[in-house]
Amino acid sequence: MARVDEIDVADPSAFDEFHDVYLRSSGRPFDAPWLPAEKRVNLTDDAYAAKVAVIGRDDAGAPVAAGWCVMPLSDNTRFAFVEVFVPPEHRRRGHGTRLLDRLLAMARSHGRTTAFSMPAWAVEAEGDAGRWFAEAHGFELDILDAVRELALPATLPPLRLAPGYTLGTWRGACPDELVDEYAELRRMLTSEAPSGEAGLEDEHWDAERVRKDEADLVRVGRTMQVVVARAAGGGLAGHTQLAFAGDGVDVYQWDTLVRREHRGHGLGLALKIRAMQASADLLEGRRRVTTFNAASNRHMIAVNEKLGFRQTAWTGEYVRAI
Ligand SMILES: CC(C)(COP(=O)(O)OP(=O)(O)OC[C@H]1O[C@@H](n2cnc3c(N)ncnc32)[C@H](O)[C@@H]1OP(=O)(O)O)[C@@H](O)C(=O)NCCC(=O)NCCS
Repeated sequence: MARVDEIDVADPSAFDEFHDVYLRSSGRPFDAPWLPAEKRVNLTDDAYAAKVAVIGRDDAGAPVAAGWCVMPLSDNTRFAFVEVFVPPEHRRRGHGTRLLDRLLAMARSHGRTTAFSMPAWAVEAEGDAGRWFAEAHGFELDILDAVRELALPATLPPLRLAPGYTLGTWRGACPDELVDEYAELRRMLTSEAPSGEAGLEDEHWDAERVRKDEADLVRVGRTMQVVVARAAGGGLAGHTQLAFAGDGVDVYQWDTLVRREHRGHGLGLALKIRAMQASADLLEGRRRVTTFNAASNRHMIAVNEKLGFRQTAWTGEYVRAI
């Protein structure tokens, strides 16, 4: 690879070329790539992370690799989240290695000391190029996640809500009176779900970030169906989110969290069934719902299996010192 260029994601032609390399390198049946509008917003610097997108070229100037590095600014400030993509016809010529070296050098120059990457492979496989590439470059598996998918249309179990709880739903903006509590639920995810030994901290979430996230969803054309459970006293006991990309047939089961003191009452299952019911119009024409959980998260996985989700893939949370 002759050179690696940092790209300006706001430049439409540079971004389209970058996204095309990413798209041609993806194509795994269990994981639809991010749409161009989603990836562009996702790789635009904001108050919460510095982001770098790069493209690698051969001697003739043709693009042969792409990658990115995301460096959180308000939490997890020692981490750099990196991903590298090389289209199949350009693999095993060292392009991925050179791009990774460049991203790690950038991360180091920003003071980052730990790189984090998430290769994924089919459930029946031991791994694939991404896993072997990461391991060849000194990344070590921190925790294994399982990817599950629910084929649509799906027949769901009946909704049963434990006494004392009520469910509320919204799309778009979280009601003002709930936004602080809702930010708290968003913040707790890393520490409340099983995680590895890498030392990932809870993300910084406050009302301002909830509003920024909602504005980003509008910018990329995604619809988020949110369901919350309220306890008898009125406080939020938990929530779930179903994400509908602006285009395509994929739906993502995003965060789900029930506060510790409200666990054991079937709220996880009730929240997810309600989210599917509330999304009936959005689910039309969609092919599947995809979800990711730590492979050790047996409570959430039991809920997903009751809903009819079946495992399709693994993702490894890999880390290495830089
Ligand atoms: C992973 C990926 C980026 C590798 O790109 P690449 O340009 O082929 O990587 P390199 O040629 O620099 O490979 C470096 C080393 O990684 C290992 N490696 C890469 N692909 C491998 C494979 N399919 N099987 C076994 N080892 C592999 C080898 O040790 C290789 O060295 P070698 O060719 O001298 O044996 C590319 O396969 C890809 O885009 N995959 C899909 C996206 C993805 O999984 N990205 C990983 C997220 S970080």
